[in-house]
Amino acid sequence: LILLRTLRDLVKERNIRERKAVQIGFVPTMGALHEGHLSLVRQALKDRHEVWVSIFVNPLQFGANEDLKKYPRDFKKDSRLLKKAGVSVLYAPNENSFYPVDFQTEVRVKSLSAGLCGAVRPAHFAGVATVVSKLLMQVRPHKLYLGQKDFQQCRVIEQMITDLDMPVRVRRCPIVREKDGLAMSSRNVFLSPSERVQARVLYQALNSVQRGVDSGQRDAFKLKNGMLLALKNAPSGVVDYAEIVDASTLAPMIKLRPSVQVLAAVAVRFSAARLIDNILLDIV
Ligand code: PAF
Repeated sequence: LILLRTLRDLVKERNIRERKAVQIGFVPTMGALHEGHLSLVRQALKDRHEVWVSIFVNPLQFGANEDLKKYPRDFKKDSRLLKKAGVSVLYAPNENSFYPVDFQTEVRVKSLSAGLCGAVRPAHFAGVATVVSKLLMQVRPHKLYLGQKDFQQCRVIEQMITDLDMPVRVRRCPIVREKDGLAMSSRNVFLSPSERVQARVLYQALNSVQRGVDSGQRDAFKLKNGMLLALKNAPSGVVDYAEIVDASTLAPMIKLRPSVQVLAAVAVRFSAARLIDNILLDIV
């Protein structure tokens, strides 16, 4: 595992790969790695790419009252996991050189960033789009690996890549879950034992939507109400949203149709962790 801290070193390594026509698969992360991240690495290896991972806790995507300072960091453990997983290059730039004091550019993907998480985190997706475009310009990977847990993030980045003609393909990878269904997240460590038990209801609520669809329900409002009812089983959680949306535009649905791919998505705030989860619905 080659550790790179500066853009200069990164460019040097990248140019060597260019001459050898090495195919690069890139997994951007903020560290605190778990099985979800490692599944992206494994997919990239399976796709026969040399795997590059970045670890950078991006201050631009945290709001003023969010958990930037507290965000879990364990660089040693992360490097160990990446080495063991077969990652070739770890890029972990220093914040001050990544964003020098005169940095002033923002990349904004307008309507896809507005709803769902964007409604409660207004600067978040511009922060994500900005850091990911900068990382893509630096690393110049052939393929970008993203986890579907951050579904809105996937759509924002995919749209940005299309709009800006960025020469990279995207592979969305499925959510990795704990045994009881909770989606893996770096923030799960912030749940108290009782909240950890309650957190199961996110996935249960999403599954109740699929069951509703299976029994013929096509009214998004009714499905959404079912989800809200299920989420009541987490009394310590405050629901940010529970929505049924078009998986491409992320616009709310009214009536479900098999011709449109539909996403059920939830966000619930616990005392020290805000959790999100989603499923793509099977509609026949
Ligand atoms: O999903 C994340 O960990 C981050 O949003 C990303 C894509 C690494 C950008 O900072």
